[in-house]
Amino acid sequence: VTREEVIKKAESFGRWYHAVELLPGYHTQSMPFGDVWEQIRRVRANLPFENKTVLDLGTMDGLWAFDAEQRGARYVLAGDIWANPRLLFAREVRGSKIIPVPNADIHCLGDRLRSLMVFDRVQKFDVVQCMGVIYHVQNPLLALHQVRRVIAETGILVMESGCWMGGGDDPVLRMNRGEPKPYDDNSTYWLPNLACLKWMLTITGFTVIEETILRLKQQPTCERVALLAKPGPLHPTPDNYGGPVP
Ligand SMILES: C[S@@+](CC[C@H](N)C(=O)[O-])C[C@H]1O[C@@H](n2cnc3c(N)ncnc32)[C@H](O)[C@@H]1O
Repeated sequence: VTREEVIKKAESFGRWYHAVELLPGYHTQSMPFGDVWEQIRRVRANLPFENKTVLDLGTMDGLWAFDAEQRGARYVLAGDIWANPRLLFAREVRGSKIIPVPNADIHCLGDRLRSLMVFDRVQKFDVVQCMGVIYHVQNPLLALHQVRRVIAETGILVMESGCWMGGGDDPVLRMNRGEPKPYDDNSTYWLPNLACLKWMLTITGFTVIEETILRLKQQPTCERVALLAKPGPLHPTPDNYGGPVP
């Protein structure tokens, strides 16, 4: 297949979400989110990927799954709720070994991934990438609990989300409703403010690494936040309903 044929086929998909390097010097035409991706690049810059197992959630066109592979990851699952033909094409052209997993809804990750992981003898993931996903899901705490169950105790979570800039230090989960909406994006159910994002991670068993937090103002009341977190203590319910702490 010639370079021209690859480019023609890539362009036949229309505009891609990610700018994926298909051939040396050729990136797919992408959405204009360069500043968001630059922040993600920075928060992941010093993460070791060599020989790691990686789970990329909401992989879309696979930019961050391919990046993990290129940086030496030995096993990369690229999950999403849909089967994306662009991802499959990019995988083929790049000669990539990432494993696309359609129907990988973050709410039921354990069930979806179990047989794959058993077959491939992977116990848990060293790196879980959850970027640009959490505000699209209806049950964010359930989703984070699911992530906690598949990450290695020594693993690292890369979290990236749109965040509401109101609420100050109070943790607030702001529904994306009203005129104007806090976030001009129809596929966003709600936005946490930064305090809320941190608290949701805490109560689902993660410890935010404070010094990694990066913030980028994106819209009048919305910023993008990228951070690293590691598995922390599993949190009992607030008063444990009077019962013994598990
Ligand atoms: C904004 S894109 C983020 C792409 C990429 N992770 C990034 O940060 O560049 C959101 C992706 O999350 C996926 N998604 C939405 N709801 C999901 C869910 N419940 N479980 C897993 N992925 C989901 C969408 O299909 C889409 O591909």
